[in-house]
Amino acid sequence: RTARFALDPAFTVGKVDPRLFGSFVEHLGRCVYTGIFEPEHPTADEAGLRTDVLELVRELGVTAIRYPGGNFVSGYKWEDSVGPVEDRPKRLDLAWRTTESNRFGLSEYIAFLKKVGPQAEPMMAVNLGTRGVAEAIELQEYANHPQGTALSDLRIAHGDKDPFGIRLWCLGNEMDGPWQTGHKTAEEYGRIAAETARAMRQIDKDVELVACGSSGQGMDTFAEWEATVLTETYDLVDYISLHAYYEEHDGDRDSFLASAVDMESFIENVVATCDHVGAKLKSSKKINLSFDEWNVWYMSRTDAQVSALDWPEAPRLLEDVYSVTDAVVFGSLLIALLRHADRVTVACLAQLVNVIAPIMTEPGGAAWRQTTFFPFAAAAKYGRGEVLDVRVSGPTYDTKRHGTADLLHATAVRAEDGTVTVFAVNRSQTQALPLEVALHALELTTVVEHSVLADADPDARNTLTDPERVAPHAGTGTTLDAGTLKATLEPLSWNVIRLG
Ligand code: AHR
Repeated sequence: RTARFALDPAFTVGKVDPRLFGSFVEHLGRCVYTGIFEPEHPTADEAGLRTDVLELVRELGVTAIRYPGGNFVSGYKWEDSVGPVEDRPKRLDLAWRTTESNRFGLSEYIAFLKKVGPQAEPMMAVNLGTRGVAEAIELQEYANHPQGTALSDLRIAHGDKDPFGIRLWCLGNEMDGPWQTGHKTAEEYGRIAAETARAMRQIDKDVELVACGSSGQGMDTFAEWEATVLTETYDLVDYISLHAYYEEHDGDRDSFLASAVDMESFIENVVATCDHVGAKLKSSKKINLSFDEWNVWYMSRTDAQVSALDWPEAPRLLEDVYSVTDAVVFGSLLIALLRHADRVTVACLAQLVNVIAPIMTEPGGAAWRQTTFFPFAAAAKYGRGEVLDVRVSGPTYDTKRHGTADLLHATAVRAEDGTVTVFAVNRSQTQALPLEVALHALELTTVVEHSVLADADPDARNTLTDPERVAPHAGTGTTLDAGTLKATLEPLSWNVIRLG
């Protein structure tokens, strides 16, 4: 059976915020050390940044880059990470049972963003696990105040004359999670988040603040957490965060392929909770969503890896090697974000390099693209503009975890010049899926490109020894005639169809 939908420029979801294509650099494993930063590497620049990695980060097209954690931030002492490198202390990182050298710190992060390019924006998290209001505003003063105070002058003495201009701040990380250092109840966190936000706004009323939501829709405290936290912080914050990771459980690939069903319901439930609190408070303000950690992550393998560690520096951790199947699910998660672009206005792919990442590196050696690199790069490039409302009708299938799901998962984005890009996933493992899209209300005449990520071996991966095994290929037989787009989507595939 054919899957169908119609596109009409009069029916839109919302404009895509460039921050939807954010990412995340945590002091975890080899994301920083031997990932983005490796002074000994043959491609390293004068700042110790790997230029081979910088090139791939630019190609990936990431915008906001969240830093320095993650769980790491709940033990972070920002002052350890500034000033002369030789004076910086080594610290235990309780989150990942490793030793943090602080060779790379705040100034290096800002320098890294500048080298990525103008589209890269800082998104800095403050520690509300082991620390509180005072340390958050001290960090803000050090980073953002122009000059003439102890901490702003300290930054200048450290060599950074210009303030860092960090606008977007996360008030802690996953404070609902029992694993978090300094974990809190919703009431405890709501209070400290509100007071931190109030103080940060006393320094600069225009900062944009993200309150911690739930670490996943499956948390026991989900929804009540958001309601309690937002009741305390509604007027003081701009965003509530969401985190979600998906993996294939027990060989149940059909459910895995429908992971975005969960992601979309998570988003819709958080929107409902935000608006419920807003209604109770009789507020006309809307809280937006910062989906600041999302990815495919084989998390079930992580606990054993971490508990076996004896405080090493930058070990190999969470280095998932992604298959074609993982990339198709990943592409579907991107579609879920785009389909909710009216309220999800920040999102961060967790993470950027080596740690559950689209880019991998070998110390002293090569850097290469994982399979997940391709959907992200395409979405970041062509998913700019207005998301059109897509209502699919077509075949469905049953899954154990996510109920009945459409075989087709799709969205469409209309750029300012009127061109349209359709992003579509065929969730069937075995069947090609005929697709028809009615475009009569749009002035489109040509299929500019149909790019497909699929493989005869859905477990194929890119690795150090075979870094280009998987790459997108051109789709065949895709046509646009008399206002109707026709395509056949390969089994288990991610598709980018550009129309002009
Ligand atoms: O991204 C890896 C980890 O996942 C982060 O440190 C934490 O916030 C989440 O649980």
